[in-house]
Parts: sequence; C-alpha cells; structure tokens
Amino acid sequence: METTPKRLEQFYEGKAKKLYATSDPDLIIQYFKDDATAFNAKKRGTIEDKGVMNNRMSELFFTMLEQAGVKTHFVRRLNDREMLCKRLDIVPVETVVRNIVAGSLAKRLGREEGETLKTPFVEYYYKSDPLDDPLIYPEHAVAFGWATDAELAQIHESALRVDELLSRFLNERGVLLVDFKLEFGRHKGEILLGDEICPDTCRFWDKATRQKLDKDRFRRDLGGVEEAYHEMLRRVEG
Ligand code: TMP
Ligand code: ASP
Repeated sequence: METTPKRLEQFYEGKAKKLYATSDPDLIIQYFKDDATAFNAKKRGTIEDKGVMNNRMSELFFTMLEQAGVKTHFVRRLNDREMLCKRLDIVPVETVVRNIVAGSLAKRLGREEGETLKTPFVEYYYKSDPLDDPLIYPEHAVAFGWATDAELAQIHESALRVDELLSRFLNERGVLLVDFKLEFGRHKGEILLGDEICPDTCRFWDKATRQKLDKDRFRRDLGGVEEAYHEMLRRVEG
C-alpha cells in the first residue's frame, strides 16, 4: 500500500484549482474547485460538481497518456477533489492544439466555426492575466527565457502526440476533439505535462450532432452545462 504524503500549506489558488504542498517536497496536491470563470474571470459562476468530474476525467486522460508513453505530472487520484502530482516549475506558456476551427481562432481569422483544418497545429499563449494571455511566437518564449529551444521542441512534440492519442481515444467514444490547452513544467530536469485535461480546457463536440460537451456551454450561456460535463465523463469512463 502506497503512503500518501501529508497535505501542508496552500501555496497557490487559481481560477479552478488550489495547490497544496505536501510532506514530500517533490509532490503537491491539486484540489479541483467548482468555480467557473470565462473571459479572464470577467464572467464568474459555479458548475455543480465540476471539481469532482474534472478530477476524475483528468485521472482517466493522464492514465491513458502515461500508458502510451507521455510523461505527465499525474501520480494518483486521492479522493473526489484531490489529485497527487509531481511538483512542477511551470513554463509560463499555454500550449493550444487545434483540429477544427473554433473560439479565438475563428474570431481572429474570420473563419466559420466547424471547419476541419487540413492539419492540426500548435499555438502558444503567454500566461499573463493582466495581458489576457496574448498569442505569441515560440521565439518570444526563448527570447524572454520562458523556455529553451530544446524544451519548446519537446513541448511541441508532446502536444501533437497528446492530440493524436486523445483524438483517437475520444473518436472511439463518439466525441470530436476540436481543440485543447495544455500546460507543461520542469520536474528534476524533465519536461512533464501538467495541469488538467477536462471540459474546461478542451472543446469536445458530439461526433454525430456536433453538440458542445464542454465549457463553451457556460462561456456562451447555452444551458445544460452540468449535463454536458456528466455526459463527457460517462463517455470517457466508457
Ligand atoms: P480559444 O479558442 O479561446 O483560444 O481556446 C482554445 C482552447 O483552449 C479551448 O479548448 C479552451 C482552452 N482554453 C483554456 O483552457 N483556458 C483559457 O483561458 C482559454 C481562453 C482557453
Ligand atoms: N481561463 C479562462 C478565464 O480566465 C476561462 C476560459 O476557459 O475561457 O476566466
């Protein structure tokens, strides 16, 4: 039986999660809240049991990815709302992969939502609340010292591999992976995939009807938010 390190002080609170130190300096506890925000927290609300569903869904996705050879911060789920993770020195860059046009890409380039891209691609955004996470070139990250060239190459490769694996996994469950956001960090000299993978950080559409099964239901006031999260969890649990 594995021993669980003791939960110590909270050292970070974000919009959807809190992070706690543990008695093991290499491990942290990620606590999933029900709070939901959009548009850099200009819109706020709660989604009932979101924390429980995102914790469980992230566990299933991280486990699948680890089994396929992707290195992640996930250690194990501790309970309904807590996950034990490796401590990361977070790269302040959000990595987005897109398969189908939606969201800010549709807006920025004047494209219809729903257009399938000829090839998936990776975008980078600088993690900065005061600046609303601006789109950047990978060169910016290197020039400002946020990541090295070698780290960005690993992040790029890992992001596309995650896209391949998640797209296939979800396709088998009747879900289109439209786009998603990943965060990476350093742990003992290695780049690991961190954060969470859930309907807050991905766009999921039902394959047959293209109905939205993600946080866009909250962002755009479409209703049926909790139902969409439950439906996604049901499909991912298989
Ligand atoms: P976007 O189309 O708004 O740029 O979003 C791309 C993807 O990133 C989408 O799957 C939702 C996710 N995302 C986050 O996880 N956090 C954010 O703050 C934003 C804006 C998007
Ligand atoms: N993370 C965004 C916010 O800053 C919410 C979103 O996912 O759109 O509020």
